[in-house]
Amino acid sequence: LAADEFCRRLLTWFDKHGRHDLPWQSPRSAYRVWVSEIMLQQTQVTTVIPYFERFMARFPSLASLARAPQDEVLHLWTGLGYYARARNLHKAAQVALDEHDGELPTESVDALMALPGIGRSTAGAIIAQSTGRRAAILDGNVKRSLTRLHAISGWPGKPGIERKLWALAEHYTPSTRLADFTQAMMDFGATLCKRSRPDCKACPFNDVCLAYAQGEPQRYPESKPR
Ligand code: ADE
Repeated sequence: LAADEFCRRLLTWFDKHGRHDLPWQSPRSAYRVWVSEIMLQQTQVTTVIPYFERFMARFPSLASLARAPQDEVLHLWTGLGYYARARNLHKAAQVALDEHDGELPTESVDALMALPGIGRSTAGAIIAQSTGRRAAILDGNVKRSLTRLHAISGWPGKPGIERKLWALAEHYTPSTRLADFTQAMMDFGATLCKRSRPDCKACPFNDVCLAYAQGEPQRYPESKPR
């Protein structure tokens, strides 16, 4: 599928069925997008929203987070789990305050990845959503959608397969509407191309999806071999 056609179909779907009222979408800032992406790494949107709102009320800026005692940061994280995320967030805020004048270094994926807790996909999500510059993402949702669309066998965490998925993610990433495209990829994987019982009948790609053509889209992605 040509990249421009992929984007056209995805954004048409997103305009109608995507999430347009998430708290980190407005006001939009690198700080707010970053905090949301860290919270969303292992936690669903509906769970994250009230935590995000409380977090922003208490720490409205990166500097306020950096200067807070760690136990207060962890307290606001209570119930979200994966507490290393909160410790890394706090540490990264201190690094950004000390080394980047209190701003997140959104000039490049590599600069963001130098901060604790930010991997390649999270870095791409922050850049695309907060600056609108072109950057690809590849989280679990996107891996699932792409392995189905292209009927890619094997565990997506395997280096060779992950490299192929990154190449596809880069290929489909447009150069306009980056924030919408990024949120659309997440929403598409989370709400339509779900792990179990994907809603293929309503999918804008069902005429070109190789997994759908094979008849068992839930077969993808394959799980980690053991
Ligand atoms: N998972 C990671 N980032 C997300 C986002 N912005 N929206 C929904 N799910 C996500």
